[in-house]
Amino acid sequence: IGLMAGRAGYVLRANDRGAFTVASPTLYPHMWSWDAGFVALGIATVSVPRALNELRSLLSGQWATGMIPHILFHSPSDYFPGPERWRTQVAAARPAGVLTSGICQPPIHVIALSRILHDARRKGGADQELAEEFVRETFDSWLAWHSYLATARDPYSYGLVEIHHGWESGMDDSPRWDAAYANVRVGDMPPFVRADLAHVADPSQRPTDAEYATYLWLLEQKVHARYDDAVYRATGDFVMGDVLVSALLAAASDLLADMGEELGIGGGASGGVEQSRAIARRFRTGVLRSVNPETGLARDLDLRTGTWLDVESAAGFAPLLCGGDDALTRRQRDLLLGPRWCGHSRLRWPVVPSVSPASPAFREQTYWRGPQWPVLNWLMAWALNRSGEQEAANQLRLAGLSQLVDCDFAEYYQPVTGETLGSRDQSWTAAIALDFLA
Ligand code: DGY
Repeated sequence: IGLMAGRAGYVLRANDRGAFTVASPTLYPHMWSWDAGFVALGIATVSVPRALNELRSLLSGQWATGMIPHILFHSPSDYFPGPERWRTQVAAARPAGVLTSGICQPPIHVIALSRILHDARRKGGADQELAEEFVRETFDSWLAWHSYLATARDPYSYGLVEIHHGWESGMDDSPRWDAAYANVRVGDMPPFVRADLAHVADPSQRPTDAEYATYLWLLEQKVHARYDDAVYRATGDFVMGDVLVSALLAAASDLLADMGEELGIGGGASGGVEQSRAIARRFRTGVLRSVNPETGLARDLDLRTGTWLDVESAAGFAPLLCGGDDALTRRQRDLLLGPRWCGHSRLRWPVVPSVSPASPAFREQTYWRGPQWPVLNWLMAWALNRSGEQEAANQLRLAGLSQLVDCDFAEYYQPVTGETLGSRDQSWTAAIALDFLA
């Protein structure tokens, strides 16, 4: 255990670039939004001030709309698509001091912050003061981020956050989006050369060229819409109500309200606490409404065609993350630990796979089509703990730690053989190991 914590700390230290941590040394040499949330959690086990700086640095990229962009390009690199492809200068809302992408990622940050605050308060002293001060200083920024998702991305109050790109789901090539992507016709756009394939052992671990062209086409459509969400909604090819993003928004909004109450910030009927509670209620209702009563899994909604997307992906466990229906929580707990998911006989470790091994969509080594992502397992363990399911949570935690025992801290894992896939020394994997060990 000491060895694993030491090696995880070493990885985070090596990926530290001063004010921010790169998501991984070669494949992702910048700051990614949801990675930064997990990274802050892990760093906090070693240094609360450095963890808070990670979040502060992320907020330096926040747009005037409230959006936190999915990549902050603090320094030049060979990553593609870089700033010259995103061309965010077409958008008035972009931040002044740092180059960024023009889309966002799941709102995990306040979940991390609340955990950091509560640990610091338990320990007391200087860390507690710093953490409380940081929450006071940034409360309105987090509220603006959540409000952006709740308004610009849910203009008709369906209770589902609308995403405009598979990258915004965090699960780029997940079969969740196959049906939607099948309808996208790639139009004229500048030529491109992929940079990602040079950094993995085998291209079958990454999205295909056809998928990549589609991703870049949607990026192009965002640029044509000048990153105006209403314009993109009317003209873009990919508009999906995302259950996982919605559940995280609901959970994070409740935690923001809790922190506001504890520290006496954002009070009053029209204050941030009440606004956050209202956001949490709306999106929790939206997530619960999306559940397919037969499978017990939540579904994304294709807002272009009005169809529910029934895919056995781990996003179907969104209700576990936001809670709100105890019977469903128990049903999802049993499903998650049962033979279609973590208990599937072919799995090397009983860790949450990105797609059910029993699903026809399951692929052993392709990115979000089946491999196990340690952060996803962490999220489910966190959610189970929060709903009072400590035993189930601990099962996932112990299995997750066993999977990481070789200390490669890979981006994702081959679920049948246990092999490491994608990038090594991935910051968020090292970070959740530290949190699991703390
Ligand atoms: C990538 O580059 O593959 C990322 O997932 C997109 O943000």
